[in-house]
Amino acid sequence: MKVDGKHFRSIWFNQDTGRVQIIDQRWLPHEFRVVDLVTRADFAASIRDMWVRGAPLIGATAAFAIAEEMKHDASDTNLDEAWEELNQTRPTAINLRWALNEMRDMLRDIDVQDRAAMAHKKALEINDEDVECNRMIGVHGLEIIKKIAARKKPGEVVNILTHCNAGWLATVDWGTATSPMYHAVQAGIPVHIWVDETRPRNQGALLTSWEMNSHDIPHHLIVDNAGGHLMQHGQVDLVIVGTDRTTAHGDVCNKIGTYLKALAAKDNNVPFYVALPSPTIDWTVRDGVAEIPIEERDDNEVTHVQGKLPDGSIGSVQISPDGTPGANPAFDVTPGRLVTGLITERGVCAASPEGLAKLFPERVQG
Ligand code: MRU
Repeated sequence: MKVDGKHFRSIWFNQDTGRVQIIDQRWLPHEFRVVDLVTRADFAASIRDMWVRGAPLIGATAAFAIAEEMKHDASDTNLDEAWEELNQTRPTAINLRWALNEMRDMLRDIDVQDRAAMAHKKALEINDEDVECNRMIGVHGLEIIKKIAARKKPGEVVNILTHCNAGWLATVDWGTATSPMYHAVQAGIPVHIWVDETRPRNQGALLTSWEMNSHDIPHHLIVDNAGGHLMQHGQVDLVIVGTDRTTAHGDVCNKIGTYLKALAAKDNNVPFYVALPSPTIDWTVRDGVAEIPIEERDDNEVTHVQGKLPDGSIGSVQISPDGTPGANPAFDVTPGRLVTGLITERGVCAASPEGLAKLFPERVQG
């Protein structure tokens, strides 16, 4: 999507320098910084410390990490070591393991001297496929927005609430939850977005708001607790969120606080959709609450807030008393029964084993 009118992906291979580059998201929206990822340590840190984040982008970054690794040591030992180190960087987003497996499974079958070239090609393919999946999510999600717009008076806005950043910054391009929004704007449907700030890391405040600003999409930033109130007062037509891992039974793991939004949406008859490319489905898992590992992050993210200080520098301030410990589960699971539908690159389906099986029959086990 666009930054100051210029097209960017969130990660790319720079042909001129031969380096993988990313938008370093730690500094947005206050500073736009592009950095090179060179060593395995760079790639691992970029995922672990959230220079890049969002399930699809984490997967795309891991694919490039393996590709770069193969350029200096394409041995099985190095491949396995890199797989292990990268796989440990973040535990919840399944796209990480998916991309690492895609790379390793392909590389295992080919000669060591051919691996660097093949890994590079495969990483580019994984990145391009992510873009196409997210574009198609937008095409299918647009139909949902069109139906809601058709029930309104001409010109009346469709109010969409979203949580965290499931935008183009969380993918290679387009975003998952945001792709239907971008497509709606392109189709001339007036939309207005309620952007949850998304404590503690504030991905909504920092990143989704920045995306909406960059594309002139009307929006308001709201505190995480405002959503239920807005739904009670008819100010939300639709919720669309992303996911870090969706189970074969349709349970959806996403940024902490998503579950509460789904409960409020259910109580107020507001449609609650989850947008995802198929690599976000973990076909080995059924019960999301019991089986998905939830990342516990540093409590410093809860007790402190990062932002722009009056002198223009970016800094962190403590908001809790000295000595109060924080607890920081980064994700929660919304059971499929609270989800109106899953928007995938193949279409929209029920968040159930049957719904997913209809769209992905090849994944149904015998
Ligand atoms: O901790 P983050 O910022 O990586 O969490 C991101 C989310 O929870 C997104 O909603 C999810 O990855 C879907 S992104 C298209």
